[in-house]
Amino acid sequence: ADADCQERIRAARAKLGKKAVLLCHHYQRADVYQHADLTGDSLKLSRLASQTDAEYIVFCGVHFMAEVADIMSKPEQIAILPDLAAGCSMADMANLAKVERCWRELNEVLGNAESLVTPVTYINSAADLKAFCGERGGIVCTSSNAGTIAKWAFAQREKVLFFPDQHLGRWTGHNMGIPMEQMVVWDPDQEYGGLTPQQIKEAKILLWKGHCSVHQMFQPTHIQRFRQEHPDCLVISHPECCFDVCKASDYVGSTELIVKTIKEAAPNTRWLVGTELNLVNRLAEEVKAEGKIVQFMAPTVCMCSTMQRIDPQHLAWTLENLAEGNVVNRISVPAHEAPMAKLALDRMLAIS
Ligand code: 13P
Ligand code: SF4
Repeated sequence: ADADCQERIRAARAKLGKKAVLLCHHYQRADVYQHADLTGDSLKLSRLASQTDAEYIVFCGVHFMAEVADIMSKPEQIAILPDLAAGCSMADMANLAKVERCWRELNEVLGNAESLVTPVTYINSAADLKAFCGERGGIVCTSSNAGTIAKWAFAQREKVLFFPDQHLGRWTGHNMGIPMEQMVVWDPDQEYGGLTPQQIKEAKILLWKGHCSVHQMFQPTHIQRFRQEHPDCLVISHPECCFDVCKASDYVGSTELIVKTIKEAAPNTRWLVGTELNLVNRLAEEVKAEGKIVQFMAPTVCMCSTMQRIDPQHLAWTLENLAEGNVVNRISVPAHEAPMAKLALDRMLAIS
């Protein structure tokens, strides 16, 4: 049945020709990834989505990525997510009601949040949160430009509200030299984030209490053990990993940076990688001829289960429908959100 699906995908693609472009995130499973026209991390893919002329942008990734493709493409282009259930559990940890409540509470404590706090949303968030940032002089960031974006955010106002990933926010703040005690966690399920007015007033960065369930599996002990066994190894992690894992790594960066760093590394080097398993397995395969050994950080298998939902069956069904002129699984950001979300994304692309 698998071979069948691959054949169906190829046939539908041949029928569609240049009408459809397949954008694929690095975490996609091999049996889908092999069909990609363009691949990348979130930043690269959002740029590519704004540059393609294809009528259908078939996004093999997760929901927020397809939303970005819809926002950044021309109105007549159509963004498609082969399985609508492919969300991102981290993105779901923040929503508009909770962020608006946080903003109201910050206003109460600080007087005028709008002139004191720049809201920064990680691209792993729903379109309405990007619009929230766009409307309030805020911005979007990805894991590959968070440092540049944070610098921009602090040039606007003295504090940053960063959501939904506390780990990326903390790592970015640390790299800017912000002391730990000035980075406080905002718990959206508590009044005033569970913080005292004093803590809010003294904070430089308010870190939303969100995380990625895949990257939280990686622990500093995994790195220590590996370094003991292989003292000359190199460790590279995604900034969604917790602070102690980032600190214990030799390199920290986006999926694109991880791929590039290992591909460009000297032959016969040994790597421990703290990011999703599909990426690590593919990379290990691609560089093994150069004598490079690439190993996954956790002893347990951790994949991004939502990325995994984009499988050959869903892709074949989607493409066959498109080839017949039936648009299925369209991702369409409502008109009351799209312009402000685009503003926040455009601010990001202009400086990264
Ligand atoms: P990248 O932008 O590094 O590809 O990260 C996206 C992501 O969801 C990582 O978990
Ligand atoms: Fe979201 Fe984590 Fe999956 Fe990335 S790996 S898409 S942050 S759940």
